[in-house]
Amino acid sequence: MSDHPSDHPSDHPSARPSAAPLKRLHIKTYGCQMNVYDSERMADVLRPLGYALSDEAEGADLVVLNTCHIREKAAEKVYSELGRLKAMREAKLARGEGRSTIVVAGCVAQAEGEQIMIRQPAVDLVVGPQAYHQLPELIARTTRARGERLSADFAADEKFDALPAERGVSGPSAFLTVQEGCDKFCTFCVVPYTRGAEWSRPVADIVAEAEGLAAKGVRELTLLGQNVNAYNGAGPDGAPTSLASLCRRLAQVEGVARLRYTTSHPADMGEDLIAAHGELDVLMPYLHLPVQSGSDRILRAMNRKHTARSYMDLVGRIRTARPDLALSSDFIVGFPGETDKDFEDTLALVREVGFASAFSFKYSRRPGTPAAAMPGQVEDAVAEDRLARLNALLDEQRLAFNRATVGKRFDVLFEKPGRHPGQAVGKSPWLQAVFVENAEPLIGRIAPVVIEDAGNNSLRGALTPHQAAA
Ligand code: 5AD
Ligand code: SF4
Repeated sequence: MSDHPSDHPSDHPSARPSAAPLKRLHIKTYGCQMNVYDSERMADVLRPLGYALSDEAEGADLVVLNTCHIREKAAEKVYSELGRLKAMREAKLARGEGRSTIVVAGCVAQAEGEQIMIRQPAVDLVVGPQAYHQLPELIARTTRARGERLSADFAADEKFDALPAERGVSGPSAFLTVQEGCDKFCTFCVVPYTRGAEWSRPVADIVAEAEGLAAKGVRELTLLGQNVNAYNGAGPDGAPTSLASLCRRLAQVEGVARLRYTTSHPADMGEDLIAAHGELDVLMPYLHLPVQSGSDRILRAMNRKHTARSYMDLVGRIRTARPDLALSSDFIVGFPGETDKDFEDTLALVREVGFASAFSFKYSRRPGTPAAAMPGQVEDAVAEDRLARLNALLDEQRLAFNRATVGKRFDVLFEKPGRHPGQAVGKSPWLQAVFVENAEPLIGRIAPVVIEDAGNNSLRGALTPHQAAA
């Protein structure tokens, strides 16, 4: 980064953003959708300082790695990326193009701030998920005192108040964080430690953000939270408001045609939320409801607070409310103590429920979590084999689910151009990618499509004659 005074936010009031020279910002996002939202908000915070987003780290003045700590692999990727960035920065300096600033944000920053600084001295700044609203000030400090490294710790709830109201929008579908943190303490999971206790944004703030997004052409909102269905933000009268009530309120926002929410815990799937799936057309018939395992013994050791049967009963109640609802889930194989029989129970649950999509992971031992100290850590080769078998079954179910749409007609929200000229890609109500020829003029809109073909990862469809002529 240059020594230009515009690097100092105090020198450049945001009322004159156009006066600042354009600086290139590259943000690399790892992990979950909450991180995608946070990365977008970091760009919003930095835009008034003259930072424009760049797809490339090469040549960027400021590079932010927004990191994920959930599994060891995700956390380790950060260090190899930092090595690459360091070399890139040296090459840029040698070309006389100024020094770039390297920031590590997100959950690895929160959990391992000090170690990051020690392991990779090229890092200028470490900033946790609750402190990135302070980026302008922190970056100004690093450029003033070159070599000084600052790590910003957990700053509780001030972040949302400090973020700019204006959001950059890239398409008709947007994420909106409504809840953060988790009080569930599943024994394998770092989230309660990295993201802290459950906290919900007030309804009015969320509605204002939703209205701002809708005014910019957003038609679909995905409400985000580590444990989103535990949402209980303050309503207009100050009283705690459920996720179901929040959805009802957001359904009234003009322009919002689709609502989704993720990620949910089975124990927080309240009756009013189940009922909302039957009552609210805007609530899409697709739910990500992690189960993790189909073995009650393992679920107990995981501190999941549900059994395989209670999960399946819950799914039954949700499907009664909304018969066309499709489910997705997360699974962990190779949790400490998992036997072949426990794993067979997981396969049995998958066969009974039937998932449209799923994410499955090999258990990753996370220091500091209760499961890390449990006996019976499963051999890697065994876990690998179970993962392959589970994935084979889940892939089969996903393909069957996709194929069942062939010949059907439903609404697609068109999001972006496809690979061929004129082609557009959109999303089905069940979150499937749908490729449609001659649909480019419909980007940003919802239109009915007839599905002609289906593969593992996407569907191909055609506009109905009426739409094609319009
Ligand atoms: N090892 C493997 N997978 C994990 N997840 C969370 N912690 C771990 C871990 N230690 C998975 C869970 C969760 C998803 C976001 O990541 O399945 O639902
Ligand atoms: Fe982690 Fe469990 Fe909380 Fe999900 S519910 S974030 S898996 S502790």
